[in-house]
Amino acid sequence: MSSSIGPVYVTRRAVFSSAHRLHSPHLSDAENAALYGKCNNRQGHGHNYELEVTLKLPMDPRTGMGINLVDLKRIMDERVCSELDHKHLEEDTPHFRDLPSTAENVSVVCWRLLEPHVPANSLYEVRVRETENNVAFYRGPNG
Ligand code: NI
Repeated sequence: MSSSIGPVYVTRRAVFSSAHRLHSPHLSDAENAALYGKCNNRQGHGHNYELEVTLKLPMDPRTGMGINLVDLKRIMDERVCSELDHKHLEEDTPHFRDLPSTAENVSVVCWRLLEPHVPANSLYEVRVRETENNVAFYRGPNG
C-alpha cells in the first residue's frame, strides 16, 4: 500500500542580461529623477538578472519527479530568456510600456510570460535577483 506524497516544489534557475531605465509614465520627469536617481539616467544601464522559477506539482510516483527539469528549462529559455536577454527592457520589448522595470515588475512580467506554458496552476513563485543585494519575488495576483 502506497501513501500519497503530496505536492513537491521544484525550482530552476536561469540568467539573462538586459538593459533598462527606471522611468514611470505616471510620474513627471522631475519626479522620476527624484525617485529613481541615477537609475533614471536617460542612457540606461544593465543587469545580469538571475531568475528562479518554482513550480508546485503533484509528485509522479513512477518517475520521482514533479516535472522533468529539461522541460522547465526549455519553457524558461523560450518564454523569458529569448524574450528579454540582450534586450533593452523598455525599448526592445513590449512588456514595460506601462510598467517601470523594477525588479518587482520584472518578476511580474516573467510570471505572465511563463504562466500559460507551465502545467496548469503549478506556478508558485518567480524570483528575480537584480543585483547581489536586491531580489524581488512574485506569487501571482493572489499573493
Ligand atoms: Ni537597474
